[in-house]
Amino acid sequence: MRYITVRTRDGDYDIVLGRRALDDMDLAQLSEQFDMVGCIVSERVLALHEDTVQKIAARFGGKIYPMRDGEENKNYLHAERFFNLFLKEGFTRKSLLVGIGGGVVGDFSGFCAAAYMRGIAIIHIPTTLLAMVDSSIGGKVAVNIHAGKNIVGAFHQPQSVIADTRFLHSLPVSEIQNGIAETIKHALIGELRLIPILNRHTLTSIREDEVMEELIFLSASFKAAVVGQDVREAEIRAILNYGHTVGHALESWMHYKEISHGEAVAWGMKAEAEISRRMGFLSDTDAKHIHELLARYNFAEKPPAFDPAGVLEHMKFDKKNIKGSLRCVLLKKIGEPLYNIEVEASLVFEVLKNMGEQ
Ligand SMILES: NC(=O)c1ccc[n+]([C@@H]2O[C@H](COP(=O)([O-])OP(=O)(O)OC[C@H]3O[C@@H](n4cnc5c(N)ncnc54)[C@H](O)[C@@H]3O)[C@@H](O)[C@H]2O)c1
Repeated sequence: MRYITVRTRDGDYDIVLGRRALDDMDLAQLSEQFDMVGCIVSERVLALHEDTVQKIAARFGGKIYPMRDGEENKNYLHAERFFNLFLKEGFTRKSLLVGIGGGVVGDFSGFCAAAYMRGIAIIHIPTTLLAMVDSSIGGKVAVNIHAGKNIVGAFHQPQSVIADTRFLHSLPVSEIQNGIAETIKHALIGELRLIPILNRHTLTSIREDEVMEELIFLSASFKAAVVGQDVREAEIRAILNYGHTVGHALESWMHYKEISHGEAVAWGMKAEAEISRRMGFLSDTDAKHIHELLARYNFAEKPPAFDPAGVLEHMKFDKKNIKGSLRCVLLKKIGEPLYNIEVEASLVFEVLKNMGEQ
């Protein structure tokens, strides 16, 4: 088992990582200070790993509350149903929630914990690669409302995160690819030790337990270090948005259909690398390396047909923009991000247009 300590102003916690991390932990001890435990579990994970999940819930001494997967269920109305249920079941301010699933369940259960009775404790047990390297770390929790994704939320740090890599054996390759996009991002914005691992493997060979564990360890440690420096996303944490300004705009222009989040981020990273290159920051060699790395993990050269002007309009709505100017995370070189850089709309338009035409 490996431990990563996340140090934040709101308190420290451990990420425990390993092939059978859950077996080696004293879950009863983790829950003994709480009066009740509720495990919010992804329905799919429950179906695929029923025995493991039943045992986890029994060892925590808690009941299972299945949650339907899908972004559409990570919403405020659904959360209200859970609040009513928790109240009926007798959950108090001294109760503990355990979220078992991908980022959807993690964000949702974390939001329920942040809001119920002004905040109760949460433990995350992430079951997707993306959740292990990204969404379970940093305390950002949210639900969607009709007007937009992740609009209602909070910063609510967990008691701990337990990343047991056995869950990843049942993950479809498309979900491994989604997680790899965030890992590539962590490599490009600073965790250079990930580069040789990523260069050595493919979407298939990277799934070997030992390789996966090393990859998650480096990627999760990197995210933990960044969020530890900047819990509330005021400054340095902004580097984690590399590839996401263009990526989110593409996803949102396509109404979250047609492309996965990982693909959107991959094309976002390519576009933002090209903007960096054209602004004189990034070398041709580094830009080429980024393209090769993404191709290695089967990210297609270009997205399905899109309207560059429409995507640019979506970028203008990004929460990170300041007073109407477009801001992006750019790269000076691989491993050296520049954040909060103002970019010309005309340059972004050109880069998007070229990406669509390639
Ligand atoms: N809070 C943050 O900082 C943060 C960061 C990034 C993303 N997010 C959020 O995370 C969510 C995306 O997370 P995700 O990519 O994990 O998606 P997800 O939770 O939708 O999971 C992806 C799919 O994998 C399935 N699944 C989960 N575990 C499985 C397993 N072990 N075996 C087989 N199938 C499994 C799920 O049922 C689902 O169909 C989005 O809602 C996004 O907004 C949050």
